Amino acid sequence: MASSELVKFQHVSKSFKTSKKKEHEVLKDVNLVIRKGKIFGIIGYSGAGKSTLIRCINGIEDTTQGKVFFEDKEINQLSKKSLRQVRGQIGMIFQQFNLMPARTIAENVALPIRYSKLGKQKIKEKVKKMLELVGLPEKANAYPSSLSGGQKQRVAIARALINDPKILLCDEATSALDPQTTQSILELLKKLNKSLGITLVIVTHEMQVVEDICDEIAVLNKGKIVEQGDVYSIFVNPQAELTKRFINTTSKLNISDSLLNTINLTEEQRLVKITYISDEAVVPLISIISLKFKIKANIIVGDIKILRGKPLGGLIIVLDGESAQVTDTLKYLKEQKNIQVEVYQNGRFL
Ligand SMILES: Nc1ncnc2c1ncn2[C@@H]1O[C@H](COP(=O)(O)OP(=O)(O)O)[C@@H](O)[C@H]1O
Ligand SMILES: [Mg+2]
Repeated sequence: MASSELVKFQHVSKSFKTSKKKEHEVLKDVNLVIRKGKIFGIIGYSGAGKSTLIRCINGIEDTTQGKVFFEDKEINQLSKKSLRQVRGQIGMIFQQFNLMPARTIAENVALPIRYSKLGKQKIKEKVKKMLELVGLPEKANAYPSSLSGGQKQRVAIARALINDPKILLCDEATSALDPQTTQSILELLKKLNKSLGITLVIVTHEMQVVEDICDEIAVLNKGKIVEQGDVYSIFVNPQAELTKRFINTTSKLNISDSLLNTINLTEEQRLVKITYISDEAVVPLISIISLKFKIKANIIVGDIKILRGKPLGGLIIVLDGESAQVTDTLKYLKEQKNIQVEVYQNGRFL
């Protein structure tokens, strides 16, 4: 295994027995590599096999076929003792936080190291450091019930990090939180990735989460990875239908029927959708075409954002001018390399 690789799945399949004779194949020939220091997203609908997949990383689930490696160790081949050691390097957080209600926040955070050789004082110091790291230094003696959802997840993160793991597995960690709290937890995870260099695996059914923090993603459909790669390439040029569906949930570059009805195109006007398909420099297209072709370009919908420093999204515009000008403008636009140009005809953009 290359030194940059932390986790590797090779032809991993996993079946559960559903009755004496029947089996349900939950993971199907999964191949993936999670590299050190990266934020790796796994997205799929409920039941796709996401939780099963990440549980194979720390050996909570064993595989039916194939191999899972953590660094150079094959998880399913480890002795109980070695597996315990490996698990010490793998932290995990969940949608429901899983805090112990009868213990204080400090006790909750200390749980993974309570039987370690560290003395009481050292443990106390470590807990303090962890609570500072997640922004909750004042909550050490509080109980979980007095905390908000976001604060509970911060405590769970502190607990997961107390062993200084190399990787943090996040299973729908923000799915129970409101959008604002989700943002603050994602910011915290990003900060931890940067400052500690810890590798993150983010399991989610929300493409917005992927867009916000992941470097690379795998799209899981009924146990199969249908697409994987770096987040920008996938967002600008998704291949699988499922990926496109997920991306649509984060794009405003759609035009509703009611909006369409309000645009009465004349014979010469064209409704045009322009989307970025590469990270080449963004040029002021609209002013260029209006000057160059003496044409009016009215923006109907605009949704351009910057993803990992590169442009994503685009515009829906109405081109308005004489027929020859419109034709020339379209020709010019289609020659531009970093955009895709689609013209609305027969009820859709083609
Ligand atoms: N221990 C188990 N026994 C039997 N079936 C299971 C078990 N764990 C998960 N499954 C099934 O595997 C499929 C994938 O589950 P899961 O990995 O939890 O998906 P996700 O996390 O994407 O929602 C589901 O159909 C689920 O019912
Ligand atoms: Mg799950």
